Order: sequence, then C-alpha cells, then structure tokens
Amino acid sequence: MVKMPAEVKETLEKQKPIPIATASKAGMPNVVFVGLMKIIDDETIMLADNFFYKTAQNLAENPKISILCYNGDTKKSFQIKGNVTVTKEGPDFEAMRAWVHGINNKLPAKSCAVVKITEIYNAMWGPAAGKQVA
Ligand SMILES: Cc1cc2nc3c(=O)[nH]c(=O)nc-3n(C[C@H](O)[C@H](O)[C@H](O)COP(=O)(O)O)c2cc1C
Repeated sequence: MVKMPAEVKETLEKQKPIPIATASKAGMPNVVFVGLMKIIDDETIMLADNFFYKTAQNLAENPKISILCYNGDTKKSFQIKGNVTVTKEGPDFEAMRAWVHGINNKLPAKSCAVVKITEIYNAMWGPAAGKQVA
C-alpha cells in the first residue's frame, strides 16, 4: 500500500465527478463517473455502488481500479491505482449506507467498494508526466 500525499488528496477531493476505470478478466476496459467518493485515510478510498453494472461485474472478476483526477487551478493531475474489496454487509458496508443515505435516502447503496491504494502517478502534461509519485 502507498499513502496519498496532501496534493493528491486535495486534487481528488476537487474532482467531480471522478472517472474510475475497471477491466474485465479478459481485459476489456470500462470507465464510469462516480460522484460518491470518500477518502477514509491516506491509503484508503471508499466508493458507493449505487448503479454499478459492468463496473460491479469487473470488480467481481478483476478487483483492480484506476482513478483519475485533475485540478485546472493548481494544474495537478494524478492517476491512482489500487485493489478493491467489495462488501454487501459488515462495518464498511454499514458505514457506506449511513453516508449515502445521509445524502439521499432514496439511493440504493447496493455495495461498498473500498480501494487500497497501491500506486500513484503524475498524470499532468509536461516532463513529469507518467512518473510514479508514490
Ligand atoms: C455525474 C455522475 C455521477 C455518478 N456517480 C455514481 C456513484 O457515485 N455511484 C454509482 O454507483 N454510480 C454513479 N454514476 C453512474 C455510473 O457512472 C454508471 O452509469 C454505472 O456504473 C453503470 O455503468 P457500468 O455498467 O459501466 O458500471 C454516476 C454517473 C454520473 C454521470
């Protein structure tokens, strides 16, 4: 696991909606927007699955994710990669439901996707593009 530096957390918090990429076991990529993202700690992100379909199938067979963020004011962009654990019961799931239903209690809050961050890259154009930052 790696820790998100402050600039990564700040950039991710400003990204709305957040593009997340998953892939099937066969390698077919799939990108969707997610609005409900919470930073749990420096190495952990929670995503709320309200409407995941291909994303849920992909995570079940290939529990890896790539998350992208960009802030045009600070001109920073990062690509965060990690391993995902999906739960439909237990403390993480209950925490996700409380959070999501606190925003809108009509949302289905189907499952909780917890991302443990394994790699972070600089995704801003320029000489540092593609360089690993954590
Ligand atoms: C602005 C925006 C925000 C979204 N936020 C979420 C979200 O927080 N959780 C969720 O499950 N789906 C969210 N969606 C829906 C997903 O982007 C997507 O439609 C859904 O996962 C189905 O696509 P899939 O079959 O590729 O998974 C959002 C869509 C948009 C356009």
